[in-house]
Amino acid sequence: MATPSILVTGGAGFIGSHTVVALAEAGYRPVVYDNFSNSQQSILEGLRQILGYEVPCYVADCTHRGALLEAMEREQVQGVIHFAAFKAVGESVQEPLRYYRNNLDALLTLVEVMLELGVHDLIFSSSCTVYGEPEQLPVTEHSPILPAISPYGNTKQIGEEILRDVVRAGKPLRIISLRYFNPIGAHPSALIGELPIGVPNNLVPYITQTAAGLRPELVVFGDDYPTPDGTCIRDYIHVMDLAEAHVAALRSLERLGALASHYDVFNIGTGEGASVLDVVRAFEEASGNALPYRIGPRRPGDVAAVYADATKARDQLGWTARRTLREALADAWRWEQRLQTLAPPNTESH
Ligand code: UFG
Repeated sequence: MATPSILVTGGAGFIGSHTVVALAEAGYRPVVYDNFSNSQQSILEGLRQILGYEVPCYVADCTHRGALLEAMEREQVQGVIHFAAFKAVGESVQEPLRYYRNNLDALLTLVEVMLELGVHDLIFSSSCTVYGEPEQLPVTEHSPILPAISPYGNTKQIGEEILRDVVRAGKPLRIISLRYFNPIGAHPSALIGELPIGVPNNLVPYITQTAAGLRPELVVFGDDYPTPDGTCIRDYIHVMDLAEAHVAALRSLERLGALASHYDVFNIGTGEGASVLDVVRAFEEASGNALPYRIGPRRPGDVAAVYADATKARDQLGWTARRTLREALADAWRWEQRLQTLAPPNTESH
C-alpha cells in the first residue's frame, strides 16, 4: 500500500511543524498547508534539513475551499491534522469577530471538503482551556467544560461541539479532539521551534529571550495563588511528545477498520504540574544560567492550577509523554540560541 498522505493544516507553525517530523518518522507522508500568517518559510528549510527531503507545501488559507479541495485531491490525502487557527488569548478578546470568523470558518470549510472528497480521519487541536478553572485536579476528559473565558477558548469549545454534532448526525467522519496542555520546547536538532511574533505572551519563550539578553527580566505574574509556592501551576509538555500524540491518535483511528463514524477526545499532558518558579529553576539548571526575574501582579484571566490526567490517552492511544521538563527547557534554550545567530533581536518588554 502507498504511504498515506496526511494534510497538516498550520504545518509550518509550532506544533504543526513538529508533528510533520513525527508523522514522517512514523512512515506517513506529511503535506503542509499553511497561509504563513503566523509562521515563517524558514521552518520549511528546518524540516528539509531534519527529514532530508522537501515536504510538499501549499501556501493557502483553510477558508479557501477551492485551494483546499485541490491540495487534498492532488495529494490523495487520507487524513487531516488541523492546527491552523489564531491562538493568542489576549488578541482574541480585542478582536473576537476575527477569531470566530477565522477559526470556525476554517474548520467548517475543512470538514465540508473532507466529506466531499470522502476523507474520513481528522485530528483536531483543542485545548485544556475548555476546562477553565477546574474544581478538581488533575482534570480528566469528564471534568466539566466551563464557559470559555476568551473568544479563542470559545472557538475551541465550539469547534469540539461542531465535530461531535457532525459525527452524531452519522456523517462518515472519524474524529479525535486532542486537548493540549502547555506545549514547550523544540526539536532537539534546534532546526525548528517556536517563533513568537513580537513580545512573547507565553512563559517559556519569555524565559529563553530573557536568558538571551533580549528582555531585561521575567515578570512572574503573581505569587499569591493558592499553590505551594504561590505561583500558577501548569502541565508543560515537550512539543515532540505532543507531536507524537497526533501519530498515536491517527493510528487509533486506522484501527477502527471499517467503522465509519467516530468521535472522541483526549487530554494530552504529562500529568505533572509545575509552578512558574519550578520552571524558572529547571531552566536555570538546564541552561546553566541564572535567570533575572521579579514578582509582579497577577495576569487577568490566569487560572491558579491546571494539569492533566492523561490516563485515557495512555490506555486507549498507547501514548504517554516521555520527555522531562528539563529536557524540554534545554531544547527550548538550544533553539533560542540558534535563533539569535539568525535573526536581529527584538528587545521590547512587557
Ligand atoms: N507567566 C508569567 N510570566 C510571563 C508569562 C507567563 O509568570 O511572562 C505565567 C502565567 O501567569 C502562567 C504561566 O506562566 O501562570 C503559563 O503562562 P503561558 O502564557 O505560557 O500559558 P497559559 O497557561 O496562560 O496559556 C496556555 C496557551 C493558551 C491556552 C491556555 C489554556 O498559551 O493558548 O494555555 O489554559 F489557551
